[in-house]
Amino acid sequence: MAAHDRSRYPVEEIKERCDLVETISAHVALKKSGANSFLGLCPFHNEKTPSFNVNAERGVWKCFGCGEGGDVISFVQKIDGLTFIQAIEQLAKKAGIEIERSEQAAKRYSERDRMLRANNIACSFFRQELARSEKAKEYLASRGLSPDALDVYKLGYAPDSWDGLLNHLRQQRVEIADAEKAGLVIARENSSGFYDRFRDRLIFPILDTTDRIIGFGGRSFGDEQPKYLNSPETILFSKNKTLYGLNIGRKGISREDRAIVVEGYMDVISTQCAGFENTVATLGTALTEEHVNILSRFTKNVILGFDSDSAGMNAALRSAPIFERAGFRVRILGLPKGQDPDSIVRGGDVSQFSRLVDSALPIPDYRIKVAISGYDLQLDEGKTAALIEAVGVLAEVESAVERERLIRFLAKYHPNFSTGTTLAEDHIRNEVARRRSRVAKAPASPGSQVAAERPAGKPALNLLERSERLLLQIILFSDCLASKVFAKLAPNEFTGSDTRALAEALSKQDTELGKIDQEDLRDRVAGCEAENLLLDLLVDASGSTTEYSVDDLIRVIENHKKNERLARMRDRVASGEAEIADTDYEEFLRLVRDTSGPWRR
Ligand code: UTP
Ligand code: MN
Repeated sequence: MAAHDRSRYPVEEIKERCDLVETISAHVALKKSGANSFLGLCPFHNEKTPSFNVNAERGVWKCFGCGEGGDVISFVQKIDGLTFIQAIEQLAKKAGIEIERSEQAAKRYSERDRMLRANNIACSFFRQELARSEKAKEYLASRGLSPDALDVYKLGYAPDSWDGLLNHLRQQRVEIADAEKAGLVIARENSSGFYDRFRDRLIFPILDTTDRIIGFGGRSFGDEQPKYLNSPETILFSKNKTLYGLNIGRKGISREDRAIVVEGYMDVISTQCAGFENTVATLGTALTEEHVNILSRFTKNVILGFDSDSAGMNAALRSAPIFERAGFRVRILGLPKGQDPDSIVRGGDVSQFSRLVDSALPIPDYRIKVAISGYDLQLDEGKTAALIEAVGVLAEVESAVERERLIRFLAKYHPNFSTGTTLAEDHIRNEVARRRSRVAKAPASPGSQVAAERPAGKPALNLLERSERLLLQIILFSDCLASKVFAKLAPNEFTGSDTRALAEALSKQDTELGKIDQEDLRDRVAGCEAENLLLDLLVDASGSTTEYSVDDLIRVIENHKKNERLARMRDRVASGEAEIADTDYEEFLRLVRDTSGPWRR
């Protein structure tokens, strides 16, 4: 195909009328980072610290992580997988800009657009049918749904007929092949013709974040199976990356910086209507990394509100590590037995749901609660058995701070508690330590939380690397620290080749200019190994607000080096290479003495 002639399209008008920040905000939570600039997590690659920059004034976006960038048109092209012309058409339609459509252009009118049109027509049809069906209206009313909610969620009813929708689509001149691709009708097996997929079901249209109807869920009235029938996978709709309710939820999620993930269509609708606008649901599939990726553009805090049956509980415990690997803080909402968010909110007690949300537990607490819930804690034997279970959970908690917190919590269930908390705590702490050393030696079991993998991509940084980077970041974001820091730790004492190169460039700049100038620095390191590191540090806003002081960091770095030297010495002494009379050995002793501070390994 010949390259498209941009001049044939009202490109400038589209760029003027389609707000870049608004368009991008449908997919990424943007935070203001300057008078006209915004920052968010890049939707085109996986990242934990935002490097996706938007300049509202210039109408351009750029990700310093993956290098992608462009204008509003290229953003829509990339995020929706569209051609230039398709993106132009989509934006023009939204902005109400008329585009001349030649015969040829009409032919290119994409399959996607035709399927979306079929879905739109089907949705209107289902809504008309709902207005006519007393049965469906009564059912929805009995589930506490207001007429308003029916509109907001575009709920409908698929009549009890094999060809109600089929005929309507034909009338509306929808190509049946397109309706079939959209999963609305199904080809008959043994004869020609098609029949409606959804029959005698309530219809829940599934909208993407830009409010396009990409699929449907249909709930049966009686016991008919399946209870919910969903659209098949199509080029518009993939269950693995669709979250029901996100079109409304994304606003609440960004606002509250927290998402609540629930199980079902009705859970989302009821809770959102009750004011919890930050709920979304997976669609009858297990949570995937793609779901998590999508959510991570809006928040890094999630509460899992799955049913309290064992399937729901397992789903929560399976989903939690996927979120954690993506850097989320996860809490689990403990629902009363037999209830789901919909039934709680519909029971009229919105404040109960609110209380449950507020008291959602971190994963280890939740697991401990589950572990000890089966025992009679009035009895000493019950307490002991519960403790043994809880110690197993505790041993898998990676953070020592968290472990201590939980040990204090568990101590009150220790039979020795009455004779003193320290004794009880010490005992539990020892048990946990024993269990942990066993766990560490055993090959990692696939299900264990300890074995949680690192996020793919960049390897994790060790303490030394992290400290060197933080130190450089502090210098970068402050005006007068460079010479002070480098007087204590010379640039050539940095251990990473990139951190050393950047330290040298910073120090040189500081001497030559008497200040830190980020633009000038980028020129200085262009093409050298510090270039990427500098970008990393510049877009990562967290470094400018680290709680560590320069002195802390320098101490970490120096102790780390001493420790490494000490480890090498120890090997030499152990292998007999260094003798007691050696100066080496003296240094060994000195190092042992010096490194007995808080940073000792
Ligand atoms: P549930 O069986 O917990 O139903 O399925 P629910 O959401 O409480 O539904 P109501 O309140 O009885 O109407 C949870 C979710 O799993 C998916 C649906 O998204 C459903 O909302 N599901 C369930 C299916 O996709 N197919 C099914 O057959 C059942
Ligand atoms: Mn339910």
